[in-house]
Amino acid sequence: MKQAQSIRQQFLDFFASKQHKIVPSSPIVNPNDPDLMFTNAGMNQFKDFFLGNQVPSSRRVADTQKCLRVSGKHNDLEEVGIDGYHHTMFEMLGNWSFGDYFKEEAINWAWELLTEVYGLEPDRLYVSIFEGDKAEGLEADEEAAAIWRKWVPEERILRFDKKDNFWEMGATGPCGPCSEIHIDLRSDADRAKVDGGTLVNMDDPEVIEIWNLVFIQFNRMADKSLVELPEKHIDTGMGFERLCLALQGKKSNYETDIFTPFIEMVEKISGKSYQGSYAPEAKVDIAMRVVVDHLRAVSFAIADGQLPSNTGAGYVIRRILRRAVRYYYSFLDVREPLLHRLLPPLADSFKDVFPELDAQRDFIAKIIMEEENAFLRTLADGLRRIDSLEVTDSRIDGKTAFRLYDTFGFPIDLTRLVAAEKGWTVDEKGFEAALDVQRKAGQKDAQKEVGDWTMLNDAEVEFVGYDELSIADVKVNKYRTVKNKKGDQYQIVLNTTPFYAEGGGQVGDQGLLWFGEEKIPVLDTKKENDLFIHIVKKLPAHIDQPVKAEVNAKRRRLTENNHSATHLLHAALREVLGTHVQQKGSKLDDRYLTFDFSHFNKITGEELAQIENIVNQRIRQNIPLEEARRIPIDEARAAGAMMLFGEKYGEEVRMITFDPSYSRELCGGCHVSATGKIGFFKITGESSVAAGVRRIEAITADRAEAFIKSELEELRSIREQLKATKPKDADKKVSSLQEENKKLLKQLEQLQAAQANNLKKELIQQVEQIGGINFVASRLPLNDTKAIKTLAYQLEKELGAAFIVLGAEVKGKPQLMVAISEQLTAEKDLHAGNIVRQLAREIQGGGGGQAFFATAGGKDSAGLDKAIAKAREMI
Ligand code: SER
Repeated sequence: MKQAQSIRQQFLDFFASKQHKIVPSSPIVNPNDPDLMFTNAGMNQFKDFFLGNQVPSSRRVADTQKCLRVSGKHNDLEEVGIDGYHHTMFEMLGNWSFGDYFKEEAINWAWELLTEVYGLEPDRLYVSIFEGDKAEGLEADEEAAAIWRKWVPEERILRFDKKDNFWEMGATGPCGPCSEIHIDLRSDADRAKVDGGTLVNMDDPEVIEIWNLVFIQFNRMADKSLVELPEKHIDTGMGFERLCLALQGKKSNYETDIFTPFIEMVEKISGKSYQGSYAPEAKVDIAMRVVVDHLRAVSFAIADGQLPSNTGAGYVIRRILRRAVRYYYSFLDVREPLLHRLLPPLADSFKDVFPELDAQRDFIAKIIMEEENAFLRTLADGLRRIDSLEVTDSRIDGKTAFRLYDTFGFPIDLTRLVAAEKGWTVDEKGFEAALDVQRKAGQKDAQKEVGDWTMLNDAEVEFVGYDELSIADVKVNKYRTVKNKKGDQYQIVLNTTPFYAEGGGQVGDQGLLWFGEEKIPVLDTKKENDLFIHIVKKLPAHIDQPVKAEVNAKRRRLTENNHSATHLLHAALREVLGTHVQQKGSKLDDRYLTFDFSHFNKITGEELAQIENIVNQRIRQNIPLEEARRIPIDEARAAGAMMLFGEKYGEEVRMITFDPSYSRELCGGCHVSATGKIGFFKITGESSVAAGVRRIEAITADRAEAFIKSELEELRSIREQLKATKPKDADKKVSSLQEENKKLLKQLEQLQAAQANNLKKELIQQVEQIGGINFVASRLPLNDTKAIKTLAYQLEKELGAAFIVLGAEVKGKPQLMVAISEQLTAEKDLHAGNIVRQLAREIQGGGGGQAFFATAGGKDSAGLDKAIAKAREMI
């Protein structure tokens, strides 16, 4: 049997032999593309080459790309586990032509690779072509059909509509007609009975698509129109796992050697066995497939920097992880974290293609384990809640089901399951309605309408902001409107700009665009697919005139301080804590910096002091910035530059060094010319952001100085109040004050206890015997409700058969308390609550309570004595 490893290698070797450059996969998470959370196709990283925004270094490229189809236009999540060939994370093998070869070569090579190199039987293969679309004004793809006829008989060339054979990445972007290759894996007997052609695109598990050849010719605009691209491109994608299934002669991807080792591990852990069934009731099998699939999605996302969280992409990852937990919890009866145990073999199996798992295996496993633990607790908690539900008509109402789901994170399918076990049902309609209300609210919040670009110039975009902060005579390339809830904004792209666009943790620049005399403030600068977008609140009267672009220099300089300080901090952390420290997040602007990194323990005060010292020493050394603006990535790697997982690096990179033996990182951000400019570095916070991830917050320069100044001011004021003149005096004085305070408190407690005791004795002497009742009524000189209550309880206990009425003025307001021994409440039919209500009238107040104890408050302290007298009358 051909191993998966070698199948992958053969693909790459084949296209290398056709002059393709083999490139690495881009990260699976996509923080810089607002339209796409996760990489969902091999072509994502090449989008700009198709659109002509960037020029590729090679016009022929091939790779294997990590993809995730769990959100947006391509979402397979709910299919996963049910069938044998859908996945959340999968590898897409692809070859690309950027304005180089087109349909002829793409089709010929695909056929050659599949039939000659891999040796698939040609008569098991079917191909599909685009049949055209009148509404879009698109013709049928006869060109592709004609090329296929060289290899495939006419009856195996099938025609499909836009849904199947016009590929689009998302709502907008490069797209075009496509031609798919499907394979019929059925037995000869079955094939003789039913023609495979009738099963293509029919969700038959044995007749499946393996390769998609897309002929990229158009750009889908925001207004839904198609615009012809200046050049034609090829984008192909072949599902690696499905290819392995076909070549290894299996019936399902889960039977290939990509998955079998993991299924075996899950069998061992759960003590259940995998039967390979796809029947809907084969829950154990479904659960095992879900677990081994989701493990990959979650692990790769974390490896590329996306931690599970409560929002955005992080939430998608959390949901995938929880789906896996739900399945093993419900169907494999596993109650302990399971996924994280599969991480080491997973990292081993990908060591050669995707080393990011191996390099961070402990970190990833720890994050996964903590998430699993937290969700297992949620599940246990939810079960307890359901157990204690009081339901009417054996039915959990929709609101309750929604609350379990929304507030307590308990999934609806589990609610259903538990309900069924109890013989209950769930009000599904009510649940859906509640969910709908929430969904609609969410959509409203997120509503944002991005218009199409208005083009003025088509010049290349150049960023000059490393060297200049102000530049005259630039031109607007294009602009567009963005409508959202907060009002309209406009986005402007210049041909040349000094504005740094938010990236690498650094905020986008602010500043001004001068259109002649009219100045337009730039609120923020963002990058979208390598375009620098200046965000403004209004457009100038005349946008087609020369512009002067001026960055807010003060804000930028302060930001540079914080960016360079972040590099110094990163190096210091690795020096003090160890080289396991990896950047997991960074945010910085003109005010402060935060830096997240992998580390398992809280950082001690001593370590923090050490880290701060190192950074400040480096600042005082005034180390000059060494900037290599464009060097080949291999050269940077050889120079030992720090690279981050999950970051998409080009072939040429920018390397920032502050002392080659101290700090060297790949970075596109803005830095000080020498570290002395940072002035001073002060850590202001250390905390945990997730399991295994710590955060340091720090400030620099003026703000750090101001911080120290205000701390010193506070110290000075404390010293003054303590009359501590010599250093260290304040410390001693505070200690002795605290000692003294403790002693005084103790004395006070003793005195109060003695006072209460005396009071109690006095009151006992005042007891009146009235008709077998021990009656006490008194106004007390106590100022504390709790003390009065305690006294009432003690009196009642000592006297027995007691009727006690106590009054006092607490914080200027009259209070009454009535305590009656239980036996009296029954025998004499007395109710303290009713009595206190009557008495309260005398103090212009109200109250109530139980039969044996009740309290009241009022407004008129003068009435206290009257109230007490009234109690006596009553008795
Ligand atoms: N973009 C196409 C797909 O994802 C081919 O790579 O199917």
